[in-house]
Amino acid sequence: TTVFVLGGGTSPEHVVSLASAATISTTLKAAGHDVRHWTIQPDGEWTSHSPAKDRVLPPPQAPSLQAARAAAGAAAFLAEAASAPAPAVVYPTLHGAPGEDGAVAGLCALAGLRLAASPLAASAAAMDKWITKQLAATADVATVPSVLLGPDHGPLAMVHPAVVKPVTAGSSHGVSLVRDEKEMSRALSEARALSSTVLVEPLVHGREIDVALFDDGTGHLVVLPPLEIHTEGLFDTSTKYDGTARFTVPAEIPTPISRELSGAAERVYRALGCWGIARMDFFVTDDGVILNEVNTAPGMSHHSQVPQMAAAGGWQLARLLNEVVSAARI
Ligand code: DAL
Ligand code: MG
Repeated sequence: TTVFVLGGGTSPEHVVSLASAATISTTLKAAGHDVRHWTIQPDGEWTSHSPAKDRVLPPPQAPSLQAARAAAGAAAFLAEAASAPAPAVVYPTLHGAPGEDGAVAGLCALAGLRLAASPLAASAAAMDKWITKQLAATADVATVPSVLLGPDHGPLAMVHPAVVKPVTAGSSHGVSLVRDEKEMSRALSEARALSSTVLVEPLVHGREIDVALFDDGTGHLVVLPPLEIHTEGLFDTSTKYDGTARFTVPAEIPTPISRELSGAAERVYRALGCWGIARMDFFVTDDGVILNEVNTAPGMSHHSQVPQMAAAGGWQLARLLNEVVSAARI
């Protein structure tokens, strides 16, 4: 199959996305697919080669010129994918917005291209942590209670410690732990730099357990072994990628909890209308299982969870990605 892997992107998760795209491209190439590697550069330009490490960024351009180049790049990508030998598949692995929020899925839907990932609505719902909570509730899955603040809302009296996070972002960018009232305004502006609406939540005390799953194309959901995250403090942007976080996979949890996690993950996957691989991040607390958030383009770097969950489940990454590519749909 001709697979168009799209990585990079203009979000703060650009570099992680390059690593994810490299894993996916290399694995699919080794499995015999004809892989076309496309990158969205930090300035929005689309290029059809892996970025050279020493790539010199073009001088700043007028916004209209930049937009024109980004649009031309997107058009070239779609045209190449549409004219590739059938059956071409688009495998987007952009993290954060725009990209993971359904923007790429929407382009593919308009162009009639098969996609090896969640469609527009599921991607948009998962990128928006507030909407995720509303949909999880309909699937009978508990989430962390939170207050949604619009762009003009002032600081909020809240139990401490609290967590302030952008409604739409990933890899914990813009997330702060607020220990007392004084820290609230800085936390709000850091979150608002990435998303006009923000969530304020009480800090959850519990074990952090991730569950990843995918539809094998027949309607059957394959759930990979749950993974527990151990960190000194928060599992934040630095501990996510500096190699200090430790994972236990399969997580050492009692079978009934493991079943509850799988069941919750499956219900949320279906409630959102996910496709391809999704990773759901949970807390296991004394009060039960609580969903933190959903990732429709989970990280695939060598520090990321999914490749390790696949290995623990006896899935060679190539076999897993093959299944996802063959289940791709419009
Ligand atoms: N947003 C990062 C890539 C993840 O969830 O793995
Ligand atoms: Mg996320």
